[in-house]
Amino acid sequence: MSHLQHATEHTHIIGQARAIRSYAKINLTLDVLGRRPDGYHELATVMQTVDIYDTICLTLTEDQRVSVFCTQPELNTQDNLVVRAAEAVLQQLSLTQGLMIELHKRIPTAAGLGGGSSDAAAVLLALQQWWQLELSPRDMLTIAASLGSDVPFFLTGGLALCEGRGEKVTPLAPNWPASMRWLLLVKPSIGISTATVFRQLTPLDYTTGEQSRIVCTALQTRDTFRLEYLHNSLERGVLEHYPDVGRAREDMLQAGAPCVRLSGSGPTLFAPFPDLASATRVYQRLHTQRYEVYLTRAIDPNAKDISFY
Ligand code: C5P
Repeated sequence: MSHLQHATEHTHIIGQARAIRSYAKINLTLDVLGRRPDGYHELATVMQTVDIYDTICLTLTEDQRVSVFCTQPELNTQDNLVVRAAEAVLQQLSLTQGLMIELHKRIPTAAGLGGGSSDAAAVLLALQQWWQLELSPRDMLTIAASLGSDVPFFLTGGLALCEGRGEKVTPLAPNWPASMRWLLLVKPSIGISTATVFRQLTPLDYTTGEQSRIVCTALQTRDTFRLEYLHNSLERGVLEHYPDVGRAREDMLQAGAPCVRLSGSGPTLFAPFPDLASATRVYQRLHTQRYEVYLTRAIDPNAKDISFY
């Protein structure tokens, strides 16, 4: 009998399960402005959700416990952000129910794609909607920020500028450039700790946030956007300390990618393409070289019908 079967048979389930999707993100820009007294770094980053998602199935129980059953067994811990998100809601509102969370992972973990943060935000949003909780947008933001710097972004998703530690989110109009209609993601086969990457920064990596401002402006008027505006302050350090990422970057360029950037703290790299034919050609070349490759698009998860830009 599986762990999940055993738990299901010994837990009193209330009502039907609900399934939700949580999307990954990429960073079009990530400017690190400097280190703050609290140890975090001041950021200006433009993020976009992309069409790679985990599926989360939520079942209400009577036993006051939050449990998680994940397709990746190493994520079956009470430290999983989905558990912490649910526990934070139950505690904030002194609720007595419990929750069983089934998590089907597709977003690569420790990859710079925000998978864990997105899962946590999806649980917060689902519980709020499902139980019609009395949590104001400010309460939701406070809980999200307490779980991680990227979690507030995923409460809105789509395209947004995130500042401060990442928690000051300004949604941007989805004026998506034609040069980025298709996105190729390559995940080198290493996991990278975000904290380590931030520790490896030097003051030379700090910027004034200008690239993020330029991208925000250029995205308002689609025609003025240039791929050269894409920027990531963490990239230099990651390329220096993780040779696998540098090799993957070279192979992507060799295979025909017009531009390659790191997403978040990596190791995932992304390359934008204007059309499916050229994206597919490069996808096939990299796939042949045994890279873990994803062909995807920017997506607005809040649109009524799932909408690509
Ligand atoms: O907020 P989160 O727990 O996702 O961040 C992981 C780590 O990344 C932090 O512990 C911190 O070392 C680093 N970080 C940072 N500045 C940020 C966000 C994250 O230094 N704005």
